[in-house]
Amino acid sequence: MKHIPWFYGSTSLAIALALTACNAPTQQAPASSKEAFVDSVLATMSIEDKAGEMTQLTLDMVCVGAPYALEEPHRLDTAKLQQVLVDLKVGSILNCGGHAYGPEQWHGLIGGIQEAAAKKSTGIPVLYGIDAIHGATYTSGSVLGPQQIGLAATWDTALVRKFAENAAMEVTASGIPWNFSPVLDVARDARWPRFWETFGEAPKLVSDMGVAMVKGYQEGPAPIAATLKHYVGYSRPLTGKDRTPAWIPERQLRQIFIPPFAAAIDAGAASIMVNSGEINGIPVHVDHHILTDILRDELGFEGMVVTDWEDIKYLFSRHMVAADYKDAIDMAINAGIDMSMVPTDLEFPVLLAELVREGRVTEARMDESVRRILAMKYDLGLFESGGVPPSLADYPEKSTIEGAAARAALESITVLKNEGKHAVNAGDPILPIGGAGRILVTGPTANSLNALNGGWTGTWQGTDTKYNTPGRPTAVEAMQEVFGEDRISFAEVGMDFTDADIADITRNLNPFTTQCAVVFLGEMPYTEGVGSVEDIELFDNQQNLVKALHKRGVPVIGVYAGGRPRTLANIEPLLDAFVMAYLPGDYGARAIADVLIGEFNPSGRLPFTWPRHASAHLTHDRKHTENVHSDFSLNAFNPLYTFGSGLSYSTVVPTPLP
Ligand code: BGC
Repeated sequence: MKHIPWFYGSTSLAIALALTACNAPTQQAPASSKEAFVDSVLATMSIEDKAGEMTQLTLDMVCVGAPYALEEPHRLDTAKLQQVLVDLKVGSILNCGGHAYGPEQWHGLIGGIQEAAAKKSTGIPVLYGIDAIHGATYTSGSVLGPQQIGLAATWDTALVRKFAENAAMEVTASGIPWNFSPVLDVARDARWPRFWETFGEAPKLVSDMGVAMVKGYQEGPAPIAATLKHYVGYSRPLTGKDRTPAWIPERQLRQIFIPPFAAAIDAGAASIMVNSGEINGIPVHVDHHILTDILRDELGFEGMVVTDWEDIKYLFSRHMVAADYKDAIDMAINAGIDMSMVPTDLEFPVLLAELVREGRVTEARMDESVRRILAMKYDLGLFESGGVPPSLADYPEKSTIEGAAARAALESITVLKNEGKHAVNAGDPILPIGGAGRILVTGPTANSLNALNGGWTGTWQGTDTKYNTPGRPTAVEAMQEVFGEDRISFAEVGMDFTDADIADITRNLNPFTTQCAVVFLGEMPYTEGVGSVEDIELFDNQQNLVKALHKRGVPVIGVYAGGRPRTLANIEPLLDAFVMAYLPGDYGARAIADVLIGEFNPSGRLPFTWPRHASAHLTHDRKHTENVHSDFSLNAFNPLYTFGSGLSYSTVVPTPLP
């Protein structure tokens, strides 16, 4: 898009406006003067200015159209900018208006927002935040790598750091300085729909990966601020469904869920986002013990704490612990919240200012939060740049930053089973697929780039094909590329295929000319509550497809594209090989094909325990008593695949000890 009518200012003008308005030193002064700078800005601010700084609205609130139903193309609304940024002095904006934008459109939007912010009395630039969780997810055409669960399977912290560094370059180049990533929740239950957003079940792995990602974001050539989320205990709700109550004894909180946050705080993470749920009957957003006693006094976190989406309002509308909105704000701010991700009403700053004037929130408490927000803006160089995006000419060349994403996809692919019972040469493992025979490719995730990318890809749910990166192959396309088109027969099915579709596929399958079948199993993308399920067993139709293919006597290789383990104990014995691809991103298809053909020796290792049965999901670090079976043996821990599972194509012969 070349012509951007709503970008009405030049970069230099905006910087000048910001600096004139702030009339403040830049952060190039010695670090010791940061506090003096922050104090000097704070001293000029009214209660309303401060309440505005503590407010974060979604982009929809300053665009033409109604929130969640903006007019296309998304563009700024001058009157709303005036009301939100100048009158209410809102200090932060987040998100896209529902889908990804190209860099030019981002520049237009953010440039316009900063120009409006420069007109408010304080002139303090807006802190813009985004969910760039596996690359710059809302910048079209960006490099999209594996989601966190796949990154964890690489066990390669140096690579993950590099990947995050590259992602930060695209986020920065888009004009955005603050990322709501990484997720440091520890995945202990496959029913929880945000399993794929985590680094798996082990606190140590989550900590190491988290530190790598934070350093990648914050210490690379184009640093952005990281956000540790969702502090804390979010991933283990009793029902398994998103944002439902968790019951976590403090000992377990400290053993399992706090350590990754502690490690990433020590690594210098700039901000933290709070768990939307409740723990032990207390919504975390009002829990002073968690938000202040532990986070500030024990863990020594000095950065900024932001709520999750609408979570202060939910204190009275969902959790029912506050009498009304104002009461909810009182509770949350006094518990330790610095910034409210409001994100779609204009009441928050007004009510907060009232609370301060009435003495229900002290100005000293407010000042603590505003200091942290200003310090973060200072560290990000916003006072110096005015928050105006860098030149488009500096947008990184894709070829210079895609290497880590492609490599991470390769290193993540995890071969969980590779048996010889149906191999061409009996006794040999079926993988890699050699020979020259025909390969039947089928299954609902075979021809979907979205299935490889998962949620937060172009859109929140990641399901709209319109926002996929042009030119990136699906799994079957990569198979055709790598094995040659003439070797691949493709039988396409969607998620809802029926027994009749299965009958068609098997009828057309000639077992004498088909070397093997590769069936792509898994899930289509979902994000947050949309992915809550009643049952984690793999869909019946996918199980029936495997059974039918097996019945035809061809070797069957299962490839699973999805971010959580679904149980498949009934069909797993029918698979000659089973490959976990996770959500490997835009470079995942080629990685899968390269592993299947043996171009790459697989090295991925499972970052979680894959349960055999839905009701028996135990983790590697279970209690001894959890091993006790109904027959009094110690065999109750019987997962399909243990934590750390993963085969390679090499034969490693241990050297006998002398
Ligand atoms: C999610 C967060 C996300 C935020 C902003 C929330 O619904 O829980 O993980 O960062 O939205 O998009």
